[in-house]
Amino acid sequence: METVIRFAREDDLAQINELRRQVNELHAAGKPEIFRPCFSDEMRDYLYEIRSDAAWQIIAAEADGAVRGYATLHHIQRPENPVMRPRDYLEIDEFGVDEAFRRRGVASAMIAFIRAYAREKSFSRIELNMWEFNRDALAFYEAVGFSTYRRYMEMEV
Ligand SMILES: CC(C)(COP(=O)(O)OP(=O)(O)OC[C@H]1O[C@@H](n2cnc3c(N)ncnc32)[C@H](O)[C@@H]1OP(=O)(O)O)[C@@H](O)C(=O)NCCC(=O)NCCS
Repeated sequence: METVIRFAREDDLAQINELRRQVNELHAAGKPEIFRPCFSDEMRDYLYEIRSDAAWQIIAAEADGAVRGYATLHHIQRPENPVMRPRDYLEIDEFGVDEAFRRRGVASAMIAFIRAYAREKSFSRIELNMWEFNRDALAFYEAVGFSTYRRYMEMEV
């Protein structure tokens, strides 16, 4: 299967929103106290809003004549404060592959594209956060070279 990774065009966004709907269902099933189960109009429109924001990029993975994977990238800049140095990095905010096209290297190809883009733009790090229940995503991110440097913890009261 040939997969082409590229920056998304306006006419890709409807297909990407279908993939975002799948990812949202996964999150709502895994963390129902946090994620709303329905993919709302606001969630759909959000993609169109960030596309016109220079701090964001949207990536599309095309295979078999349709968009099968997507990522949203956010350039994060945090000023220094008394505790922390200034921070400037590329964050992968959303990431997913069509459930019918997984385990065929689509996500790995997107990571390779994102790394090349990050190098070209002189970023020194790529970061992301993920939900602990999502063991498939953790296995994937570790397989492509990410490591955990921070944790969020919780307890019931
Ligand atoms: C996580 C996800 C993006 C992986 O996409 P993918 O295209 O299937 O990944 P790849 O085919 O490039 O996998 C590369 C390697 O990662 C590892 N990997 C990927 N999915 C895995 C899984 N479900 N379980 C264990 N290892 C996995 C394997 O080592 C795999 O290599 P292999 O297939 O030769 O064994 C996909 O499962 C997905 O979209 N999940 C739902 C959305 C999601 O969780 N997004 C990320 C959090 S926001």
